[in-house]
Amino acid sequence: MHDDGDHLVLHGDTWLCVLTGAGVSAESGIATFRDAGGLWEGHRAEQVASPEGFADDPELVWRFYGARRRQAGGCSPNRGHAALAAVEQRLGERFLLATQNVDGLHAVAGNRRLVELHGNLWRTRCSACDRPAFEDRSDHEGALPRCEPCAAVGRDALLRPDIVWFGEALDPADLARVTAFLDEGARHHLVFLAVGTSGVVYPAAGLVGEARARGADTWLVNAEAPENARRFGRFLAGKSGEILPRLFVFD
Ligand SMILES: NC(=O)c1ccc[n+]([C@@H]2O[C@H](COP(=O)([O-])OP(=O)(O)OC[C@H]3O[C@@H](n4cnc5c(N)ncnc54)[C@H](O)[C@@H]3O)[C@@H](O)[C@H]2O)c1
Ligand SMILES: [Zn+2]
Repeated sequence: MHDDGDHLVLHGDTWLCVLTGAGVSAESGIATFRDAGGLWEGHRAEQVASPEGFADDPELVWRFYGARRRQAGGCSPNRGHAALAAVEQRLGERFLLATQNVDGLHAVAGNRRLVELHGNLWRTRCSACDRPAFEDRSDHEGALPRCEPCAAVGRDALLRPDIVWFGEALDPADLARVTAFLDEGARHHLVFLAVGTSGVVYPAAGLVGEARARGADTWLVNAEAPENARRFGRFLAGKSGEILPRLFVFD
């Protein structure tokens, strides 16, 4: 069973970096952008997920994220999330999970060594001041949320979801944490595993190259061959909720 090619063998010196995308949450009932045709009720993603879109029509943007909060709030982690939480339990500091998902399901499943590259649906921040982002489960139906600390100094500022939108930069500290993990892993047996990501959103899509440059074994689990499938050593086609629970073998 250990070397039939469909099992990822993890041993005492393996450092595992996992990158997940929307596909991991598909079996929890959260549609990927691609499955939704890249559109939400007829709107391009940029209209509801960019600073320009928010400036143009904040009501539309908050309706979009309110609906996503309501939807994600009714969803639970699936067997794929659970498998990744179990691997973290086994590997401890030799594990890091970087996700493009904003639904928070990895944390619900139990992952703690987690970098949410694109932010979190359940956090809100100010569009004007640098007060820290805070937990917020409201769908803000009815009225646009405004920043109280800003109002206290006479500034009318809207709150916004704590999500990295199109055209916005990832937090350099998040990328640095992933790179530092890959650097350390390069001194050991480094494995990079991408799951459920179409490989078109950079810089996350470039992480496989960073891993390969450090000598990593590279694996991909995805429902279909994505744009950067050639850059992986192993590609397993299928659903993450079916493949991940059977993928890992501890040596
Ligand atoms: N759940 C979420 O938080 C969520 C959902 C949609 C979009 N987004 C955001 O949109 C961006 C879209 O990029 P993306 O590449 O992550 O998503 P994507 O929608 O572009 O691609 C998802 C990929 O997952 C694959 N897939 C679908 N179902 C799968 C399954 N059951 N098992 C394995 N693979 C499956 C598809 O073939 C596709 O290649 C992300 O950066 C993310 O921030 C997040
Ligand atoms: Zn403010």
